[in-house]
Amino acid sequence: MTEKSKIKKLNDLKAQSRLGGGQGRIDAQHKKGRLTARERLDLLLDKGSFREVDAFVLHRTHDFGLDEQKFMSDSVVTGWGTVDGRLVYVYSQDFTVFGGSLGEVHAEKICKIMDMAMKNGAPIIGLNDSGGARIQEGVVALGGYADIFLRNTMASGVIPQISAIMGPCAGGAVYSPALTDFIFMTRNTSYMFVTGPDVVKTVTHEEITQEELGGASVHSEKSGVCHVAADSEADTLYLIRKLLAYLPQNNMEDTPFVPGDDPIRMEEGLNSIIPDDANKPYNIKEVIGMIVDNGQFFEIHENYAQNIVVGFARLGGHSVGLVANQPAVLAGVLDIDASEKAARFVRFCDAFNFPIITFVDVPGFLPGTVQEHHGIIRSGAKLLYAYCEATVPKLTVITRKAYGGAYDVMSSKHIRGDINLAWPTAEIAVMGPDGAVNIIFRKELDAAKDPVKKKAELVAEYKEKFANPYVAAQRGYIDDVIEPKETRPRLINALEMLSNKRDANPAKKHGNIPL
Ligand code: HXC
Repeated sequence: MTEKSKIKKLNDLKAQSRLGGGQGRIDAQHKKGRLTARERLDLLLDKGSFREVDAFVLHRTHDFGLDEQKFMSDSVVTGWGTVDGRLVYVYSQDFTVFGGSLGEVHAEKICKIMDMAMKNGAPIIGLNDSGGARIQEGVVALGGYADIFLRNTMASGVIPQISAIMGPCAGGAVYSPALTDFIFMTRNTSYMFVTGPDVVKTVTHEEITQEELGGASVHSEKSGVCHVAADSEADTLYLIRKLLAYLPQNNMEDTPFVPGDDPIRMEEGLNSIIPDDANKPYNIKEVIGMIVDNGQFFEIHENYAQNIVVGFARLGGHSVGLVANQPAVLAGVLDIDASEKAARFVRFCDAFNFPIITFVDVPGFLPGTVQEHHGIIRSGAKLLYAYCEATVPKLTVITRKAYGGAYDVMSSKHIRGDINLAWPTAEIAVMGPDGAVNIIFRKELDAAKDPVKKKAELVAEYKEKFANPYVAAQRGYIDDVIEPKETRPRLINALEMLSNKRDANPAKKHGNIPL
């Protein structure tokens, strides 16, 4: 064979590998409204940056006639590339080959790329589109999944791990994405469930579609399994690129710095955003928009537990994590879902060196049997634990209510808040004026000739005494009371002051967060 013909053979093999399961199956994939594994990588990565590994890999199974069907690269495309010039490792399951099912070599390819990502300290992104364990390979496929689960767990808190669900993801296969930091889903063309509609029907006699059981809407609104839902595959991949811009490459790096707008910008609008009536809502996202660089906020879990808002933004160029009670939804109360949503986010921020900015306007924990019986005690403790153990810079702004246990939980001074600011509209107390007066003045109210008038007087007295930031400020629980319009420059200044912060927790194997 001449050198020329050897080169031709190489190029032919590579072309064959790129064709996956063949043109017919590629067309079928497109007909379902889905892109192929390679087309997705083209959209995710910077143009021309993808370097594939293991394009020549073939499966080694003989059973069920599989030795007659071999596809180069098997059912997953792996390698690395860049997003905005920064290194990322990727795998993209190829549904055109055995339905993207995971057998021995598919798992080996993913493990190889995960090991490289860990060794070289860069994010790993997995694009999932698979019929699950390759049925013909039996327990070897199950072993392959477990090899990946172990690596997901070891990589947790070391490198960012992002999963996108772009087709089926069912059975035990869901647990690799579930172990990663962020799950993205595409609406209408992706689904995730442990047991599918057929099994559900057999066991519970319930008839339900794949979309209703585990589509992007369900997981981004009800279960909270999905962090970001997008309308199309292109959107999903674009949003992953956007998220990556906020993340460090690994846990040893600071978050990326991108210069923003004027760091001493005052926002007059903030001085009038809190309604005079303390029970009237306002939108905390408007507050966030006015404070962060260029008004840009990348929200996580946008449609889940909307009574708390979490996400990434930049302040003075530094990437930060934001946690904010949302008075416009359920008055910003903390319930089970909100506590768990915020706890997970706080832990991500702490693991990856994001300063945490907390905006507080919370009337307390949600009362009721549903919450108590489903374990609000345990869930609230998760958020408390997450804030307590976090050693990154923690800045807190109390905009209005900080009542009861929720005052302690929401990054208070007592749990190592570094800089705790309050607006003059802040009300820091054990409980709201109405409830407090009913309890501590019950006898006076019973004895009063005009209980309504008496109650109004006592509420006014209580408000004067406790429903303000100054009692807390007198004790140093609040470092300063500021005009709302100053919030942006004050936070940026505090971040810079804290840029060399060193804090640590006692040596231990790991803590025991109340899961
Ligand atoms: C081997 C598979 C496969 C699998 C699909 N294929 N799933 N091959 N193992 N798990 C193959 C099909 O034979 C077909 O091959 C091609 O992929 C496309 O599949 P279709 O059925 O034609 O596609 P579609 O109609 O779109 O349906 C997709 C699907 C369905 C819903 C995913 O294929 C399906 O139900 N597959 C089985 C899912 C499953 O039960 N998996 C095991 C789950 S248990 P050809 O040659 O025709 O192109 C599990 C345990 C993991 O995963 C445990 C981890 C701890």
